[in-house]
Amino acid sequence: MLPMENTTLSALLISLLFLTFASQIQAANKQTQALSLLYKAKWSGDSAIDTSHFEPPRHMNKANIVLPQEGLKENDKINRLPGQPHVKFDQYGGYVTVNESAGRAFYYYFVEAEECKQSLPLLLWLNGGPGCSSLAYGAMQELGPFRVNSNGKTLYRNKFAWNHVANVLFLESPAGVGFSYSNSSSDYANCGDASTAADNYVFLLNWLERFPEYKGRDFYISGESYAGHYVPQLAHTILHYNKMAKKTLINLKGILIGNAVINDATDLIGMYDYFGSHALVPDETIDQIQKYCDFSRNATTQPNECNKANDDANGDLENIDIYNIYAPSCRNENLTSTPKRMSSSTIDPCSEIYTYAYMNREDVQEALHANVTKLDHNWEPCSDIINGWADSPVTITPLLTEFMENNLRVWIFSGDTDASVPVTSTKYSISSMNLPVKTPWHRWLVEGEVAGFAQVYEGEITFSTIRGAGHQVPSYKPKGALALVSHFLTGNPLNDFRR
Ligand SMILES: *[C@@H]1O[C@H](CO)[C@@H](O)[C@H](O)[C@H]1NC(C)=O
Ligand SMILES: *[C@@H]1O[C@H](CO)[C@@H](O)[C@H](O)[C@H]1NC(C)=O
Ligand SMILES: *[C@@H]1O[C@H](CO)[C@@H](O)[C@H](O)[C@H]1NC(C)=O
Ligand SMILES: *[C@@H]1O[C@H](CO)[C@@H](O)[C@H](O)[C@H]1NC(C)=O
Ligand SMILES: *[C@@H]1O[C@H](CO)[C@@H](O)[C@H](O)[C@H]1NC(C)=O
Repeated sequence: MLPMENTTLSALLISLLFLTFASQIQAANKQTQALSLLYKAKWSGDSAIDTSHFEPPRHMNKANIVLPQEGLKENDKINRLPGQPHVKFDQYGGYVTVNESAGRAFYYYFVEAEECKQSLPLLLWLNGGPGCSSLAYGAMQELGPFRVNSNGKTLYRNKFAWNHVANVLFLESPAGVGFSYSNSSSDYANCGDASTAADNYVFLLNWLERFPEYKGRDFYISGESYAGHYVPQLAHTILHYNKMAKKTLINLKGILIGNAVINDATDLIGMYDYFGSHALVPDETIDQIQKYCDFSRNATTQPNECNKANDDANGDLENIDIYNIYAPSCRNENLTSTPKRMSSSTIDPCSEIYTYAYMNREDVQEALHANVTKLDHNWEPCSDIINGWADSPVTITPLLTEFMENNLRVWIFSGDTDASVPVTSTKYSISSMNLPVKTPWHRWLVEGEVAGFAQVYEGEITFSTIRGAGHQVPSYKPKGALALVSHFLTGNPLNDFRR
């Protein structure tokens, strides 16, 4: 055991999240494990992480960063993925070099819309972590057209895939995530918010050269969890370079973020409050945490009362999936020889294991045009090789304010059974912006059922819950999530049902 007097809040937080993990069957979900690591680093007094406000990468000159892309699109076309059912839309996958001298390349997977691909918008999806893959979560377990069967070899269709309403682009970033890599291994130690935003931006410019029919198309960026940083930072970078160029290089229209890390202090307090208000941890423990734990960023030690309260909370959270507190856990990690019958209305709790098996198959990688350089590590849902994070601002709310001034559509959603970046955190974070309410709190329905509650703020920020969904909203409530994204993309407010 570590001596208690040296325990920082961050260390407590991380042990809390890790104990929860350890008690579950391994590998069920690594996404917020990565997040807790970052929280830990940010909250430790001697952290080398720069937490100041995000500034867009400077001095990028389009002429230097855009490489010739002729012929590459055709090479990227995916004929058919192993075990894939027949579909009518086109899929592409491949690498885009984001930094030639370092030998850094990002892997993308692109699914065109089922119908009307010429008129529907382009939607980028990013997962968080930091270090987690948009293929692992977004594409294969959340909003992509397929999910992996329990045999780890074949795919079945996701009826509520987002390519019903958009052309959807999944990006593995930064280098070291999934199939994305760098030939300069030092890049894996120098990741951070700013370099990720810069590389994502270079990726987009080059990708649009490769797919010129999407230049000028309405463009939206979406994501979850730590993508609450990535999405606004990329949006900010796009706006910045559009302004510098005095023209619309990328036709960004809006952002959509879910269970998103927005504002550290309120995110943390909201997490503890959620544990208490959802009867996972007794009020007495939460009272002790609020009384004795120091949530300020530079607090390096915590009093024993705080440590004790955290230990108690840890104990209570054992065996609970904090990404979806009411979800069953994965009880059998073995693949099955024949596919189990899968539900279309929610996700199998072992789906990360099926996805892992599928993505690490050689035939799958070949079909995806992935791992062409034969990387020396496995494909992982969250990176094992990224080993440093340089910068992570304490808040991204100033960027949201900027988007309102630039008439971008900003929607923030929250699956209300997630305890890792829960709805309380998101509500506190939005409250911290002191925005006047335009459309008061109201329920919205999908097929007569309350899918969630929404509130619209002046400046066109929409906040919406998804009732009964965990951290990965489209995994747990696929129909509600598709309804939400289609309202977001068309700009139609969620139906207002009030007495
Ligand atoms: C390429 O990446 C390296 C770090 O690996 C960095 O030093 C260099 O400035 C980058 N080049 C460009 C053009 O951004
Ligand atoms: C990385 O190195 C490999 C092997 O030399 C090479 O084939 C590949 O093109 C390089 N990647 C980039 C992005 O330059
Ligand atoms: C935390 O410490 C850093 C560097 O030591 C300092 O710049 C910053 O102002 C401190 N923040 C707070 C909230 O005390
Ligand atoms: C999983 O497979 C292993 C090796 O075949 C076997 O020993 C184990 O009992 C299986 N686990 C379950 C829960 O079926
Ligand atoms: C890439 O391929 C090599 C050789 O087949 C394999 O060992 C490695 O796990 C693969 N890595 C990734 C990231 O797909």
